[in-house]
Amino acid sequence: MTPSAPKSQVRAFYDQVGWKEVSAGLYQNAKYEDLRPVSREYIEKCHLRVKRYLPPQGKYLLDAGSGPIQYPAYLTYSEDYQYRVCADISIVALQEARKRIGEHGLYVVADVANLPFKDEAFDGVVSLHTIHHLPREEHPKAYRELYRTLKPGGSGVAVNGWGWARFSRWVNLPIRVRKIFRRLRGALVRRLRGGQAASKGGRSQAQAQLKVAYADKYDYRWLLEHVGKEVPLEIRVWRSVNTSALRFYIHPWLGGRGVLRALFALEERFPRFLGKHGAYPLVVFRK
Ligand SMILES: C[S@@+](CC[C@H](N)C(=O)[O-])C[C@H]1O[C@@H](n2cnc3c(N)ncnc32)[C@H](O)[C@@H]1O
Repeated sequence: MTPSAPKSQVRAFYDQVGWKEVSAGLYQNAKYEDLRPVSREYIEKCHLRVKRYLPPQGKYLLDAGSGPIQYPAYLTYSEDYQYRVCADISIVALQEARKRIGEHGLYVVADVANLPFKDEAFDGVVSLHTIHHLPREEHPKAYRELYRTLKPGGSGVAVNGWGWARFSRWVNLPIRVRKIFRRLRGALVRRLRGGQAASKGGRSQAQAQLKVAYADKYDYRWLLEHVGKEVPLEIRVWRSVNTSALRFYIHPWLGGRGVLRALFALEERFPRFLGKHGAYPLVVFRK
C-alpha cells in the first residue's frame, strides 16, 4: 500500500460501514465493543478514566478522530468546555457527531497527522482509537501534531490498543486456540463439501476491502522509542482486557460484574504495569 492508501481505505470504511446506524444511536462499529449489561459498568468506568487526565475546563477541547462521539461517557470530557472541536477524516462521523452535540461542537474534516490548527490552540486534547489507523511511519507525526496544538499547561490523552502485550497475550491465549480450532474445522467442512462454502456469497473485492479498517499496532517499547523521545509520554492503563476476552470470560452466571470490579481495582492499583502489558494503554502527554 502507498502511504495514502490506508487512509483512503479507513475513510471509506467509516463513511460506508463503521458509522452506519444499525439502530437508534448504535453504529455498526459498536460490534467491536462488548455492549452486554454485565460489562457495562466496567466499560463506562474505563471511559471515564480519560477525563481524569484532561484539564477539567477550557475554551477548546480537540477530539481528534472523534467519530460520532458514540458513548455517553465521552460527552463528559467536554461538558465544561465552551467548544469540542471534532476533527475526523470521515464526513459521516462528523455529521453524526453534530446530531449529538450540535452547537457545542465545531466540525473539521482533517487528518490527525496534519492538523489544520495553529500551535497551542487547545486547552485539552483527546484522540481515541484513531492513530492506529495511520500507516506506522505517520504515528510519531500524529503525536507531535496533538502536542503542537496543545497549550502550555494543558494535557492530552491518546488511547490505542497494543499489538502485543504480555498480560493480554496470556489472557487471550485460549481465545486464539479456539480461533485456530474453528478455522481448521471450517476448512475441513469446506473440503468435505467439495469447496462449495468457499465461494458462498461471492463477496466482491470492494466489499472485502471494507470488511475491517486498516490498523497498525505495536508494543509500548516501540511507542517510547519512536514517540517518547520527542513527546513526553506517560503510559497508564485504559483497559487491560479487550472485547474478545470480555466476551469469552465474563458472564452473569460466573459473577462477571464482580470479576470486572476486581479487575478495575487491580488496574487502579497497578496502572503503569497494566498500561504497558494490558490490552489498551491510556497515553497522557502534558505540556
Ligand atoms: C475506531 S473509530 C474511534 C472513534 C472515537 N474516537 C471513539 O473512540 O469512539 C476511529 C475514528 O478515527 C477516524 N480516523 C481514522 N483515521 C484518521 C485520520 N488519519 N485522521 C483523522 N481521523 C481519522 C475514523 O474516521 C473514525 O471516526
